Amino acid sequence: MGEQISKIGVFTSGGDAPGMNAALRAVVRAAIYYKKEVFGVMQGYEGMIAGDIVKLGARSVGNIIQRGGTILKTARSEEFRTPEGRAKAFDNLKKHGINSLIAIGGDGTFTGLHKFYQEFNIPSLCIPGTIDNDIAGTDYTIGFDTATNTAVEAIDKIRDTALSHDRLFFVEVMGRNSGYIAVNSGIAGGAFALVIPEENITFDELYAQLEEGGKTNRKSSLVVVAEGSTIGDANELARKVAERSKYFDIKVTILGHLQRGGSPTYFDRVLASRMGVAAVEGLLNGKQDAMVGIKNNQIVYNDFDSIMSQRHEIDADLLRMAKILSI
Ligand code: F6P
Repeated sequence: MGEQISKIGVFTSGGDAPGMNAALRAVVRAAIYYKKEVFGVMQGYEGMIAGDIVKLGARSVGNIIQRGGTILKTARSEEFRTPEGRAKAFDNLKKHGINSLIAIGGDGTFTGLHKFYQEFNIPSLCIPGTIDNDIAGTDYTIGFDTATNTAVEAIDKIRDTALSHDRLFFVEVMGRNSGYIAVNSGIAGGAFALVIPEENITFDELYAQLEEGGKTNRKSSLVVVAEGSTIGDANELARKVAERSKYFDIKVTILGHLQRGGSPTYFDRVLASRMGVAAVEGLLNGKQDAMVGIKNNQIVYNDFDSIMSQRHEIDADLLRMAKILSI
């Protein structure tokens, strides 16, 4: 199987996500299972350019399935965007005889790898690892479930204090330009309103909803705001509401990088394990310039072009349901 692939390079890149270590473990062990050599590239494309590459064995990835972050470290590399940077990276791979790559990261990582594949024709596959769940071609990205659970736990805690003081809280969650974390943590945390980039809610509509809540004797409220909100971030929304009315006692909590850390949930560990094995098997079966995904609980392989030309849409029915529940 995959005779031409003898040495696989694996790396994590972009924002870290809980479950990246579990994916790495799966890649390394699957590669060894199929009698291939495997090398870890430190700090993503930065380490590839610097030649920071280490041989990995089955024991190198012991005791990491439960750990957040990434033991390979990660970075966003400007130099890899240049032809010179990519040429240096390729030379370093050649020095180790690495003739295939598996990247664990998000869309920036994939774009870099696609370019690299086009220039150097090195068989490459991507594994979607990002808390944002913003990648088409997969129902879930690694880390999204853990990050959303972290956000829900935080929202539950904020709810206690919001309720005690009759306050209106704006809670900002991550997700870049995607509202996945916001929608799911908001529904699970019983939020009164959601502000996400995918929905064109105006500030006036949001304000009207808050006013309506006041009229129906709602004493405390939680609004979950995706960081990609197009009508202002949590601080700005809070300021605008305060300017319009003295009725609300308003507080803001920005969850930030808290959502990126922590031990991955069982879901992310299993997802990462499946994707890691599938990436190695995909490479050995001749798949390249593609991303492993999970659709309806089945592993799929998506061509690079098909995933980059689409957006991972949020189910409209989820949004409809959230509205029904927030009366
Ligand atoms: O892509 C993951 C993510 O956490 C986004 O949700 C967020 O917009 C971004 O990364 C933050 O990046 P950094 O860690 O570089 O501040």
